[in-house]
Formats: sequence, C-alpha cells, structure tokens
Amino acid sequence: MTNVLIAGGTGTLGGRIARYLLADPAVQLRLLLRAGALDKPEKARTVAGLVALGATVAEGDLKDPASLAEATRGVDVVVSAVQGGADVMIDGQLALATAASANGARRFVPSDFALDIFNAPAGAPMFDMRRRAGEAIEATGIDVVRVLNGAFMDMMLDPDTADVVDLQKGTAQYFGTGDEPFDLTTVEDVARFTARLAVDFSAPAGVYAISGERTTFNGVADAAERVTGTTLARRSLGTVQDLREATAGAANPWAAVREWYLLSMLTTPTFAAVENSRYADVRPVGLDEYFSSQQKKAATDA
Ligand SMILES: NC(=O)c1ccc[n+]([C@@H]2O[C@H](COP(=O)([O-])OP(=O)(O)OC[C@H]3O[C@@H](n4cnc5c(N)ncnc54)[C@H](OP(=O)(O)O)[C@@H]3O)[C@@H](O)[C@H]2O)c1
Repeated sequence: MTNVLIAGGTGTLGGRIARYLLADPAVQLRLLLRAGALDKPEKARTVAGLVALGATVAEGDLKDPASLAEATRGVDVVVSAVQGGADVMIDGQLALATAASANGARRFVPSDFALDIFNAPAGAPMFDMRRRAGEAIEATGIDVVRVLNGAFMDMMLDPDTADVVDLQKGTAQYFGTGDEPFDLTTVEDVARFTARLAVDFSAPAGVYAISGERTTFNGVADAAERVTGTTLARRSLGTVQDLREATAGAANPWAAVREWYLLSMLTTPTFAAVENSRYADVRPVGLDEYFSSQQKKAATDA
C-alpha cells in the first residue's frame, strides 16, 4: 500500500487527482485540509465525496509549518495541487516537503502543471516561482517528480467564458499572429496522468510532460470549425511585441500576470518530448475530441 497525501484536494485539479488516486486499490489517500476548508458547501461536497471513496483527512496549512509534521506522518508520496502566491507556492510547498522528508516520504509532486517552466521567459512571476520552489524542494533530498502540460485546454476553451472561441458569436480571438505553437491538455488528463505517475516508482525523479495537442490559435479555430461546422471570424487582439512591452512596463510583475501568461504561452518552446504513451490507459484527448465532447454535452443539456 502506498500512502499518499494530497494538498489542494479541494481544488479544481487536486480534486480530480484525488479521485484517480482513490481508484487505485494500492493507494491509501489522505487529504490535507486547512481550517475552514469545509465552510464552503461546494468544497464540503468535494471532500465528502472523496471521503466516501476512502480518503482520510488531516488538518494542515502550508502557511503553518508546525501543522505539517503530523499531517505527513507515515506518508510515502506527497502530491501538491495548491495555488497561491509565493507564501504558498515557495515557502508553503517547501515547508510541506521538509516535513514529509523528515517523516521519511520518498517523493514530492509539486504544483507545477504548466508549460515548460524551464524555458519560459525570464521574469514571468508564476514560472519563476515554480522553478525556485522545485530547487528548494529538491534540496531537502526528497525525489521531485514534476508534471508539465501546457495550458489547460478545457479552461482556455471553456464555452462559458468563451475567451478564445465563441461559437454563439462565431468569433475566435487571440494574441499573436495565430501561428505561434503551444501545448494544450485537459484538466482531466493532467489529473489522470499525475495520479498514475505519482505512485509509479519505476519513474525516476524528473520532469514529465504531456500534451493533448500541440497547436496554435489558428489550429484551435480550425478544429472548432471542423467539428462544429461554424465559420469563425478570427481577430488578433495584439502582438507578441505588445505583450513584451506590457510586461516590461509593469513595475510589479503580478500586475501584468495575464500578459506574462500570454507572452509565455506564445514564446516558450513546446515540449521537446512528451510522455503521452507512458500509460496505455492515459491517452490525452486532442482538440477534435474536446470540441466533439463539448458539442455532445451541449446537445444533451439543450
Ligand atoms: N496550465 C494551466 O493552464 C493551468 C490552469 C489553471 C491551473 N493550473 C495549475 O494547476 C494547479 C492547481 O490549480 P487549481 O486551479 O486546481 O487551483 P484551485 O482550484 O484554486 O485550488 C487550490 C487548492 O490549493 C489549496 N490551498 C491554497 N492555499 C493553501 C494553503 N495555505 N494550505 C493548504 N492548501 C492550500 C486550496 O485549499 P482551500 O480549499 O482551503 O482553499 C485548494 O484546494 C496550480 O499549479 C495552477 O497554477 C494550470
């Protein structure tokens, strides 16, 4: 039996990773919950669902290192899917890894889940933070297994926000020329892959990338048109140079976090190698499959 502690199990990605871990009969899962985590009905429902599937609960807060010693007792693997500022992503994850390492844990999966943070533009605050966190966690001596996935396909193409593709209005809008390459993977596929990799001790410490589709904004629009039969009016909202200027001009990098994100997406090289075939039952879906499933869902909901 592998004892796994997940931090961020009440979150969008972490809740899904937790479900996949609970489906593994060789895993005993513990959820790290901070005080007040159950105050929100939606989160309380998520936790109740995970507990019903066999998870146990430990109280702890990444910002309170003293709370983490007990929470990590007997744990073999820690999976972090937390989100926050440097106090959570660097200091908090380091505190969690330090406690876990002192308790004999073998492995830590940090909350990276991004594009290639090692080749992202210097100064992008969210990726700098993840690099620094990883280095500090590695220095504790624990094995660090990192998952990278590009952008979350379903968040970027969520029909409810329609930031990029709006099928109702028949538009596709984006930054850049439309031809800059990037990787997209659904949250579900990232969760499924992470749950498998976290407890796969044949996989050594290191960086593991997956990609549902290597594409461009024009590729996204092409797939949407192909699958839905809608013709999209395409419009660029600004150039890569506009994004460079917006990020360079920001006194506080966090004030330009959206621009940093877009700039990173359009200028970071796509993954040199991906692990899409590592697990036969974890084959990330591509854009056509994603848009097809959205169409089926819309037809069922109508
Ligand atoms: N590549 C992409 O396009 C993309 C898009 C979105 C997210 N992500 C990444 O995916 C990861 C997870 O993001 P998400 O959207 O799933 O996050 P989320 O839904 O906001 O969930 C964050 C989780 O972190 C927990 N947390 C925050 N501070 C904590 C603390 N001090 N102690 C303990 N737990 C704490 C929260 O607990 P509470 O319930 O107590 O608040 C919650 O469970 C992040 O690394 C994020 O950057 C990537």
